Amino acid sequence: MNILVLGAGGREHAICWKLRQSEKVKELYCAPGNGGTGFHATNVNLDVSKHKKVASFCKKNRVDLVVVGPEAPLAVGITDDLRKAGIAVFGPLYAAARLESSKIFAKELMGRYGVPTARFRVFDDFERARTYILDSDLPVVVKAYGLAAGKGVIIANTHEEAIESARKMLIGREFGSAGRRIIVEEFLSGREASILVVTDGDAVIPLATSQDHKRAYDGDTGPNTGGMGAFSPTPLIGKKAFKEIMSRIIEPTIRGLKNEKIDYQGVLYAGIMMTEDGPKALEYNVRFGDPETQAILPRMRSDLAELLMNAATGQLAGTTLEWDERESVCVVLAAEGYPGEYDKGKEITGIIEAMDAQAIIFHAGTKYDGDKLVTSGGRVMSVVGMGDGMKQATESAYRGVSKIHFDGMWYRSDIGAGVAAGINS
Ligand code: AMP
Ligand code: GLY
Repeated sequence: MNILVLGAGGREHAICWKLRQSEKVKELYCAPGNGGTGFHATNVNLDVSKHKKVASFCKKNRVDLVVVGPEAPLAVGITDDLRKAGIAVFGPLYAAARLESSKIFAKELMGRYGVPTARFRVFDDFERARTYILDSDLPVVVKAYGLAAGKGVIIANTHEEAIESARKMLIGREFGSAGRRIIVEEFLSGREASILVVTDGDAVIPLATSQDHKRAYDGDTGPNTGGMGAFSPTPLIGKKAFKEIMSRIIEPTIRGLKNEKIDYQGVLYAGIMMTEDGPKALEYNVRFGDPETQAILPRMRSDLAELLMNAATGQLAGTTLEWDERESVCVVLAAEGYPGEYDKGKEITGIIEAMDAQAIIFHAGTKYDGDKLVTSGGRVMSVVGMGDGMKQATESAYRGVSKIHFDGMWYRSDIGAGVAAGINS
């Protein structure tokens, strides 16, 4: 089959890398792709927001399946438009993508189907939000309801801070229309893990568990980022917790969508807080996680192309996946200044040496300038190590990292460290 992957990050490089290992895949395209996807796929300069152009590219090149990486195209209905043009798509329809593009839709669905989650109220009026916040226990969580590039969640330790955040969102329109409505939510304490499943709307096939590190600096400090590293599996989700997450969070969500006549084909990713009262859903994403995917896919033994095609065409029933028992650790290398402003165009060296040291490299913000590889984004690449146990996997990842260089390069030095040291991190 011929496949087109949409996106340009480390996640999409990992997807292309894994798809290329499938004997079933003939032509592989990535739009727009990055410096790394070009090794496995033909990078195509397609404007993904122009759905008609994507559809005609697919027709012309006999693309059998489109795999959508990021949430933004899903949130504006690329799947609906491509399906109408007769193209199979891995990634949910507009109505289903609201699980991520509208936190209100997600929380209300959780409420209707009894999915354990933080107590919440929705506001579009600042004065009402203010009154409710003043009555809430601390810390209290204030969230913009729409997509805000991971910045729309404020955990406030004082009522004043929460009120100020609500004011900025509702009156100051800090996040534009994504903050037109807000959610004020109970703070859940515990540790976070990620569960990703692939579904065709009926069958649910879980992927290996994982955990990401969202904060910029060591010890989970500093600003939130898109993710500075991840590892798989996570000891936070043992057999019992896994069963509970599947039966109380994932399955009711998929059955609930089906009950509301909402078809779901793609990845459902639930951010889970492991609380004293058991696992609770924090949020849903409607796509693969980044950088979780870079940690998960190197452990997958099964054929990814077959899995994604079967999900897109409603034929997942009976699928089982095989996994490498080894652990994986993914360390993200970032540009100086990320997650704020950063420079681009810095030459990257040492990739071959890192690969010789057994690391797997997934590019994100990279591009070729002639035959020179240079940085072109904030999260520049992911370096993945595998090993028997987290200690070995961590060492392997950092051995790879030590070979790579670009001006201003920085990374967290404690990805997976808690688990490697035997702490239930
Ligand atoms: P979300 O986009 O809703 O997952 O929020 C982003 C991050 O904020 C999550 O990964 C959590 O670390 C944190 N967070 C969100 N909601 C809560 C909550 N109710 N209690 C504690 N932390 C939260
Ligand atoms: N790793 C967080 C995300 O993909 O949203």
